[in-house]
Amino acid sequence: MARLTVHAGPEALGEAVARELARAAEEAIARRGSFRLGLPGGRSPEPLYAALVRGAGGGLPWSAVEVFFADERAVPRSDAMSNARFVGEALLARVGAPAGNVHRMAGDAPDLEAAARDYDALLARRLDALVLGLGEDGHVASLFPGSPLLAEETRRVGVVTDSPKPPPRRLTLLPRAVNEARRVFVLATGAAKAAAVAAALEPRWTAPLAFLGSREWHVDEPAAALLRGRR
Ligand code: 6PG
Repeated sequence: MARLTVHAGPEALGEAVARELARAAEEAIARRGSFRLGLPGGRSPEPLYAALVRGAGGGLPWSAVEVFFADERAVPRSDAMSNARFVGEALLARVGAPAGNVHRMAGDAPDLEAAARDYDALLARRLDALVLGLGEDGHVASLFPGSPLLAEETRRVGVVTDSPKPPPRRLTLLPRAVNEARRVFVLATGAAKAAAVAAALEPRWTAPLAFLGSREWHVDEPAAALLRGRR
């Protein structure tokens, strides 16, 4: 069963998830010496990144945080559509995350399959926490409904060539990498996400997001509006 928290709005959601991440980081660093954190692009995490910049929950000890990405578009790293550029500008540059701790996916590589294999190797040690934004069509990372990548069990990172959301070519974490993460936070805000949230959190959970069924969902009131039995 998903653990669902409904927040009054995006700011409260960002603050709450930032606090959870701060606690998870403290524990991971005490036990394993670093905090391996996966982050998405898109608009959903913006309030979280703002809260992390404010130092909510005491902030993250960035020198011990290893940053990974949920997915990346096949664009140059300077492109406005680059997730690494977005996360860099919205968060990492503002908190002074050491560049050597930021592990971007090589969406600009000529051989995306080789880039996926390289990133897979980086994830042999699992993520301590992974943040995902839920798309209006119910996708997370670049795992879109109906994608054959949802059934891939061996690899942790895959290449998308036909994303319905532009650009079509992307790198993405696969269900194995998501399943291996110690904590997964799925974020959804705004009325446009309400149908996707309701479909995902139906009592009879079905594919394609079944692998997120036991994870931590943080949504705001408008995104929770179509959930029956929870309101
Ligand atoms: C991306 C993101 C993607 C995003 C969802 C939700 O590359 O687009 O990583 O997976 O999280 O599409 O997007 P929004 O948060 O903007 O709705």
